Amino acid sequence: MAYQIAVDGPSGSGKSTLAKGVAKKLGIMYLDTGAMYRTCGLSALKKGIDPSDPVAVENMLQTMKLDIEFRDGIQHMILDGEDVTGMIRTPEVSMAASSISALPVIRNAMVDMQRKIASSQSFVIDGRDIASNVLPNAKYKFFVTASAEKRAERRLLELNNNGNFSQNYEEVLADIIKRDKQDSEREFAPLRQVPEAIVIDTSDIGIEETLETLLSYIKE
Ligand code: DC
Repeated sequence: MAYQIAVDGPSGSGKSTLAKGVAKKLGIMYLDTGAMYRTCGLSALKKGIDPSDPVAVENMLQTMKLDIEFRDGIQHMILDGEDVTGMIRTPEVSMAASSISALPVIRNAMVDMQRKIASSQSFVIDGRDIASNVLPNAKYKFFVTASAEKRAERRLLELNNNGNFSQNYEEVLADIIKRDKQDSEREFAPLRQVPEAIVIDTSDIGIEETLETLLSYIKE
């Protein structure tokens, strides 16, 4: 029987690293839903569309072709036939993703896809609204969090490791605070911790240790 594990939390909390680790350990698939919103954001940027304009985005969606391919368990985002996996982690795409993900027309389309994918086989799925909206019946629900400062530190390191030096620490922190606000205050399916979620704070603990803690809740 296919089952799902929901891992929600703000950006930079370490949720994707943890979700990936859990999927590997359990030998099941991993779906990064943020990558889907990022690809929509990239699509808007490429086409010169304002990612917060509902009418323009709805029109864009009519012709946009978004596919997800899993190759050797790695998720590839295919936008209009092009593999854009390597193009969706820039600060510009992050902000566009945050704006576009607030639009119901985008969320409905992405949530439909996510539910379809998740029902096909067992998945660990990370995002913002997985437990609260996409998969309320997920077998396990985790909420991974960390202080904004710690998340900014990690994000800066990640950008630098990818050869991106376009922002300094203060700019990364300001972006994180702005995105948190946008993601948690939006009207439609905001970032929300469900009461039954197991909360994991990664501010002061290494990822390895956190992964062990998380796995200790999963008795399979
Ligand atoms: O997790 P991430 O940073 O890659 O997510 C990119 C953006 O997408 C983020 O601003 C919030 C949004 N998002 C969302 O609204 N719902 C999800 N399930 C996943 C991401």
